[in-house]
Amino acid sequence: MHPEIDRILIDGPRIAARVREMGAQIAADLEAECRNAAAGDGGGVVLVPILTGAIVFVADLIRHMPLKMRLGVVAVSSYPGRSMQSKGAAIRGEIPPDLRGKHVLIVDDILDSGRTLGLVRRLILEQRPASLRIAVLLRKILAGGAARAEEVPVDYVGFDIPDEFVVGYGLDFDGYFRNEPQIAVLRSGADGGGA
Ligand code: IMP
Ligand code: MG
Repeated sequence: MHPEIDRILIDGPRIAARVREMGAQIAADLEAECRNAAAGDGGGVVLVPILTGAIVFVADLIRHMPLKMRLGVVAVSSYPGRSMQSKGAAIRGEIPPDLRGKHVLIVDDILDSGRTLGLVRRLILEQRPASLRIAVLLRKILAGGAARAEEVPVDYVGFDIPDEFVVGYGLDFDGYFRNEPQIAVLRSGADGGGA
């Protein structure tokens, strides 16, 4: 464990067990959706992971989803540099095209202010997918039960966590710690290890 990490919130084995459950549940739901879809609706499942934070989660999740699917990534930045607070979300690049008539699952690491998922969701809905779901590994319960800047309907949540800045399993501080196998809280005053 990195010396700048203060404590582990969710260890690797717990994440693995939950991601396995989520994969099975999501796959079953998408399979049912495809079965029920009117014949000839174009069908097809497309997962849209939000880079960069979702890469570890989606890599593990899809290996528990034994169904035919495509991936179409979208890059969004909301915490430029060393910020620990959402500054609003900006798309870097393009939303995957051709989502019309598809069963789409947006995958992200964490729901915090809701701005990132809100933005991606709106842009995907413009393409008129056959269905749209959202899966996040983590959902922050904001301090004092405060409302999110943007309320987003999330279908699958791995873990609810307190309102703390976390790193690991894809989540970063200043670009670092994504490779930590657990979800952890940084020691206060940590500098991200960067030069
Ligand atoms: P939102 O737009 O405020 O909901 O933030 C969502 C994005 O901000 C996520 O996709 C993460 O990349 C990032 N983020 C939010 N909270 C944290 C955190 O505690 N640690 C690291 N990244 C975070
Ligand atoms: Mg992110």
